[in-house]
Amino acid sequence: MSSRPLPQHKSILDIAPYVGGKSSVAGAKQIIKLSSNETPLGASPKAIDALRDFDALHRYPDGGCTLLRNAIAEVHGLPAERIVCGAGSDELIGLLIHAYAGNGGEVLYSEHGFLMYKIYAQSFGAIPVTAPETGLCTDVDALLAAVTPRTKIVFVANPNNPTGSYITAAELKRLRDGLPAHVILAVDSAYAEYVSELDYSNGEALVDSTDNTVMFRTFSKIYGLAGLRVGWAYGPEGIVDILNRVRSPFNVSSVAQVAGIAAVRDQAHIAKARAHNDACLKSLPPKLSALGLKVYPSVGNFLLIEFPEGKHCAENANDFLLKRGVILRAVGNYGLPYCLRATIGLDAENKALLEALTEFMA
Ligand SMILES: Cc1ncc(COP(=O)(O)O)c(C=O)c1O
Repeated sequence: MSSRPLPQHKSILDIAPYVGGKSSVAGAKQIIKLSSNETPLGASPKAIDALRDFDALHRYPDGGCTLLRNAIAEVHGLPAERIVCGAGSDELIGLLIHAYAGNGGEVLYSEHGFLMYKIYAQSFGAIPVTAPETGLCTDVDALLAAVTPRTKIVFVANPNNPTGSYITAAELKRLRDGLPAHVILAVDSAYAEYVSELDYSNGEALVDSTDNTVMFRTFSKIYGLAGLRVGWAYGPEGIVDILNRVRSPFNVSSVAQVAGIAAVRDQAHIAKARAHNDACLKSLPPKLSALGLKVYPSVGNFLLIEFPEGKHCAENANDFLLKRGVILRAVGNYGLPYCLRATIGLDAENKALLEALTEFMA
């Protein structure tokens, strides 16, 4: 008989561990990494300077992230006491599921929703439930139809990764209005800074007008601090109180806090990153379509590209690109085996991607 201890929740044994975007390819001389939705512009130079000047590595960080929360609050016009910081928004998403849905609660999200909702649900003995999408976009009616008395949290990544689609502020509100009061609506706005559509809402307004909606944000995408792991949640007092109870006391490192403060205050850097992304979101899709590829409309910093069946399929494209050092993200684990996700890069990187795909599709 095996003496291997078993985890408390059997669902942990069903977890397919999250595989991040590749960052290297054996034998490739030059790597173009477009696999993790990182900003090609890098972090704010001011954040890098702040890190250089930081010399208190022997001290524990401020467990309450006071200065970071104050800086976020100031820039976003939010009350600092309703912000909780985490080691990436991932950590906070996990804590919300742990606290509110662990041990049998249902966590609902859309069919091609961000993978960590499922992984954290399985980690905490919650039940992951998906609702179908329409045209690779979150379908509010389908989500509402999938609610049961056991539903505890509904996650909407807006825009969603890996599809790049979003739902409007009106649709988000219709979802909130249709959910029972005991169900938390978690709006994951990891890519909010990239969205310029006028009918978009990052979820902040719903947090303000309800006591059961929470918004997640991250410094990993447009802010370029993915390596430091820092994100935040804005929620009603009750949810913030619970997240503060269950998080570890020093969950955000001192260096992450110092860099986050400088980064959030450098909105000029963010404007530059947004302008670059806007220009590429306009110029790249027609060039990809001209190669015979389907590109889904995206409001994020990435494009979901659909490949035909046969020799020009996504798997062959991925292999072909990898041999040239161009790394995209395969999204078979999101139920999209016929697609690849490409993060928008620098102009030269996008050009290299287009050239490689032109060669592949010839
Ligand atoms: C939709 C979405 N939410 C959350 C995250 C997690 O970001 P973080 O690095 O803050 O944990 C990601 C990262 O890929 C994401 O795509």
